[in-house]
Amino acid sequence: MKRDIREMVIVITGASAGIGKALAEQLSAAGAKLALAARREDRLNQLNAQLGGRHLVIPTDVSRADQCERLIQLAADHFGRLDTLICNAGYGLPRPAAQMSRQEYEAIFQTNLFGTIDCIRPAVPIMGRQDLRDGYRGQIVIVSSAAGRRGLPWFGAYSATKAAQLSLAESLRVELRSMNIAVTSVHPIGTDTDFFTTAEKLSGATIPPRSAVERHQSADTVARAILRGIQHPKPEIWPLRVARILVGMGILMPRLTDWVMSKHRRAMGRANEQRIVP
Ligand SMILES: NC(=O)c1ccc[n+]([C@@H]2O[C@H](COP(=O)([O-])OP(=O)(O)OC[C@H]3O[C@@H](n4cnc5c(N)ncnc54)[C@H](OP(=O)(O)O)[C@@H]3O)[C@@H](O)[C@H]2O)c1
Repeated sequence: MKRDIREMVIVITGASAGIGKALAEQLSAAGAKLALAARREDRLNQLNAQLGGRHLVIPTDVSRADQCERLIQLAADHFGRLDTLICNAGYGLPRPAAQMSRQEYEAIFQTNLFGTIDCIRPAVPIMGRQDLRDGYRGQIVIVSSAAGRRGLPWFGAYSATKAAQLSLAESLRVELRSMNIAVTSVHPIGTDTDFFTTAEKLSGATIPPRSAVERHQSADTVARAILRGIQHPKPEIWPLRVARILVGMGILMPRLTDWVMSKHRRAMGRANEQRIVP
């Protein structure tokens, strides 16, 4: 059965840019009622105005547990229910894994992992109390990454947060099934958003431009795949389907995958030789 998105109450973290913003645009066009969350309030207000001003803007720093709880409570109080929570806020910090400080590890886990579970924790009891809607009391969508299945050189800490999100999704999916709450993880490959420029700004590293043959996708493509995954809840969404197969094969052949990945490591090393010891 195709679930109806009209009037569905959906919270999106990281709605001020990239995948989250594209999702807000598509879900709004499909008739959903949205709670838009991120730190940059001006961007959220701009987006809401562009979408007709009928959504709820809730400035939120997901690295703060109290702000995650407030986001979920405000959204549920305002709309009277909470159908779908999309945990999408996140960032990357390119650097060799052994050269990142303890504080940098803590900060990236604080946003990407704790920012996910700190929104899920208050959302579950709210979803659990509400009536079924098209067969589900609610759905939790966690935007992980293809890197959640196979770590990337120079993105070790980031990959670890994405793998942790995936493990969380796998556990929650089984735990929440009897409550009719669906749990879906999302695994995009390289996507054209602000992600890479933000990562460069935060780390001071240079990310070399993609080669012409390297596959990547648009934020709209990822958002469309997530929208379909809300209409038809499923365990995992891979917006580029072949990536799922390639990553799966890579897990079976780690030595070969290491060899492929070392090309990426060399490219990052060349682009950053002045800055960071390889
Ligand atoms: N782009 C890719 O290649 C790619 C591939 C796989 C997975 N992903 C994942 O997709 C998700 C979205 O990334 P994107 O590509 O759309 O990147 P983006 O364009 O940089 O957007 C990131 C979003 O996260 C928000 N955010 C970051 N830290 C936050 C915090 N502490 N509290 C609240 N919001 C925060 C940002 O908003 P504010 O700065 O306004 O707070 C922004 O809206 C991330 O989880 C990322 O890991 C991206």
